Amino acid sequence: MAKLLNVKFPTSIVFTSNATESLNTIIDGYLKFGDHVVSTAIEHNSVIRPLVRLEKERAVEISWVPVDKIGTINPDDIFNMITTKTRLVIVNHASNVTGTIQDIESIGRRLQKYPNVRFLIDASQTVGHINIDNEVIKADFIAFTGHKALLGISGVGGYYINPEIQIRPIKVGGTGVLSELLVQPAGSPLHYESGTMNMIGIGSLYYGINYLNRIGIENISRDLHVKTRRIIEQLSTFKEITLYSLPNASGIVSFNINGIIPSRLSTFLADNASISNRSGLMCAPFIHEFIKTNPFGCVRISLSHFTTQDEIKIFINYIGQIIADLDKVKNINIPVVYSNPSIYDFQKKEV
Ligand SMILES: Cc1ncc(COP(=O)(O)O)c(C=O)c1O
Repeated sequence: MAKLLNVKFPTSIVFTSNATESLNTIIDGYLKFGDHVVSTAIEHNSVIRPLVRLEKERAVEISWVPVDKIGTINPDDIFNMITTKTRLVIVNHASNVTGTIQDIESIGRRLQKYPNVRFLIDASQTVGHINIDNEVIKADFIAFTGHKALLGISGVGGYYINPEIQIRPIKVGGTGVLSELLVQPAGSPLHYESGTMNMIGIGSLYYGINYLNRIGIENISRDLHVKTRRIIEQLSTFKEITLYSLPNASGIVSFNINGIIPSRLSTFLADNASISNRSGLMCAPFIHEFIKTNPFGCVRISLSHFTTQDEIKIFINYIGQIIADLDKVKNINIPVVYSNPSIYDFQKKEV
């Protein structure tokens, strides 16, 4: 993992049970009463919810950076929001809704001029699909999950922590060594890894990463770019489809068929054509205001290095069939419309 992120010390990698645990540990363990945080409208709930909880419990102030209509942030917005109270900037490397990748190199480089501001990257959607070189980015924390591009089993994740920083761990307990100490031993990873670890999960990452290194992450990025481009080009030929992704190396294509609620389309794809997909807000409630998919979200397919041309063909053909039969499958009963939260709700409250 240390080599994959290009960080010097393997001891600065901590294993957890998922990216959510990593993000909670960092956010809860680092932020203090009255701190200010800058984060973005593309974040996953595993960043939004820990932050909003601290807003209530520790008077943490949050500034949310808006995004454009495919989910790109303008890095200038981050820097315009930094104040003397800012201690953390959190950016999702790639949106799990649109696949849009943020320029974390330039954000990281610019943040080096702000020694009091630490940088946390949620790389759940990218580690394994896209090269991350922390010698260039100089992030202080990088959260990752095992079950996506790292090809590991479910229930394993982790984070990189800058060795100069020590945060309060969520849990303390047995570390297997230094048992005479009644307080948690200092230093990573002991400070953060208490209790029996998920050795099978961590082992699965070893095999996943070996495979990725054999293929080459740059080749995987390129492959996903080509495949997402092919699908996007083919879906664009249907006037009934609205697309929310550009070709990308995170392997995501999100779309809607106009007039069909995404959850309904998702069920058709899964039940009638065995095409795995995800629909709705996808745990990222803020982005939908910007890509104009409120209130029902969209449908997402996630490609991998293993996705075949045949599978792509089956998917496109099935979409063609649904569109040909559109009158039959359009929604008869539209569910009660609810409203999704907006990053601007926070500002209204401040006024
Ligand atoms: C961007 C992003 N962050 C965080 C997570 C949470 O990952 P995990 O399920 O490993 O907690 C996900 C997973 O869906 C994600 O896509």
